[in-house]
Amino acid sequence: MGMFLLMILITVNLAAPAGSQDAIKLEHVSVQQGKSIIIPCLYKAKYINNQKYLCFGSHFFVCKDVKSLKHRMVSTSDDQTKYIFTVTMKNVTASDAGSYWCSVETAGLDVKDKDFQLKVTTATPDLYVENQTVIGYEGSHVVISCNHQSKSPKAWCKIGGPCVSTSGNISGASVQLRNTDRGFSVTMSKLAMKNTGWYWCSAGNWQMPVHITVQNATSSWERSSFAWLIVLGLLLAVACIAVTVFRQHKQKCEIFSWRERSENTYVSMKKPNPQTKQHTDEEAQDYEIMSSPVQTSGVQGKNREGYESWKTDGGHITDKGHYCTC
Ligand SMILES: *[C@@H]1O[C@H](CO)[C@@H](O)[C@H](O)[C@H]1NC(C)=O
Ligand SMILES: *[C@@H]1O[C@H](CO)[C@@H](O)[C@H](O)[C@H]1NC(C)=O
Ligand SMILES: *[C@@H]1O[C@H](CO)[C@@H](O)[C@H](O)[C@H]1NC(C)=O
Ligand SMILES: *[C@@H]1O[C@H](CO)[C@@H](O)[C@H](O)[C@H]1NC(C)=O
Repeated sequence: MGMFLLMILITVNLAAPAGSQDAIKLEHVSVQQGKSIIIPCLYKAKYINNQKYLCFGSHFFVCKDVKSLKHRMVSTSDDQTKYIFTVTMKNVTASDAGSYWCSVETAGLDVKDKDFQLKVTTATPDLYVENQTVIGYEGSHVVISCNHQSKSPKAWCKIGGPCVSTSGNISGASVQLRNTDRGFSVTMSKLAMKNTGWYWCSAGNWQMPVHITVQNATSSWERSSFAWLIVLGLLLAVACIAVTVFRQHKQKCEIFSWRERSENTYVSMKKPNPQTKQHTDEEAQDYEIMSSPVQTSGVQGKNREGYESWKTDGGHITDKGHYCTC
C-alpha cells in the first residue's frame, strides 16, 4: 500500500505541470499573425534520448503535439549538448493562440513543464525582436533591440540561468541594458564561444527568446578575408572590362579620325565656297551640271550632314549614336 502511494506520488511529481526548477519560465509570448516564432525548451539531462514535443491545447492532459496540428509549418531540433530543443512555428495564425507545454515523451506519463501562453496579434506584438537568431564574434559584441511599448520592468535572461536588469555579467560576457524609443536595447560584449545559446528579453509579463551564436574569431577573420578576395576579384574583372572597352574605344577613334580626315578633305573639296555664291547663276548651274552626271549628289548630301553634325558637336564625330572624345 505504501509502495503504491509512493508510486502515485512519483508519477504526479513527474507529470506536475508546475514547480519544475529548471523550467524555461517562458510565460507570455506575443507574435504577429503570419510571422514565425522559435520556442526553446530546456529539458533535464536524463531525457536526452527521449522524444520531445511542444504540446498545444486547452489542458495538459488533452493537448496535442503542434507538429501534428500544423504539419509542415513546424520544425523541431534538439541540441543535446545544451539540453534544449527548439520548435519553430511558421505562419502563425489566430487559431495558434493559447496554452503550450514543452513536453518529453516517457514510458509513463509524458513530462510537461509549466505552460506558457502564446498571444497572436494582428498588429505589433507586445514584445518582439527583429530576428530571433543573432550572430556575434568572439571578443566582439552584439546589440539586441527588445521592442515593447509599456514601461514594465525589463530584463535580459539566459535560459535556465541568471537575469540582468541594468548591467552585469552572464557567463563572463558583460551585459548592458539601455532604454530606447522603442523599448530597450541589450549589448552583450566580451563574447566568448561559451556564450552561444538561448536568452530572452523580458518586459513585464512578456518574454521573447533570442538565440546568440558566437563564432570563432578565426572563422570571422576567414570570412572577412574571403570577402576581400571577392572584392579583389571584382576589381580585377572591372579593370579587365575597362581595358577591353578602352581598346575598342581607341580602335573606333582611329577609324573616326581616319573618316574625319577623309570627310574633311572631301567636303572642303566639294562644298561650294560661300564666296563663289556671289558669282553668276550660270556658274552655279555649271557646278550642278558638273556634279549630277556622276550621281554624287546623294552621297554629297549625306556627307554634308555628317560634316554639319561634326561641326555643331564641337569636335565630336557622330556615328551610330556613339561619341568619341579622344
Ligand atoms: C498562412 O496561413 C494562412 C491562413 O491559414 C493562409 O491563408 C496562408 O496561405 C498561409 N501562408 C503560407 C505562406 O503558407
Ligand atoms: C535572421 O538572421 C540570420 C543570420 O543572423 C539570417 O540567416 C536569417 O535569415 C534572419 N531571419 C530573418 C527572418 O530575417
Ligand atoms: C563582471 O565580471 C567582472 C570580472 O569577472 C567583475 O570584475 C565585474 O565586477 C562584474 N560586473 C558585474 C556588474 O557583476
Ligand atoms: C577556433 O579556431 C581555432 C583555429 O582555427 C581552433 O583551433 C579552435 O579549436 C576553434 N575554437 C572552437 C571553439 O571551435
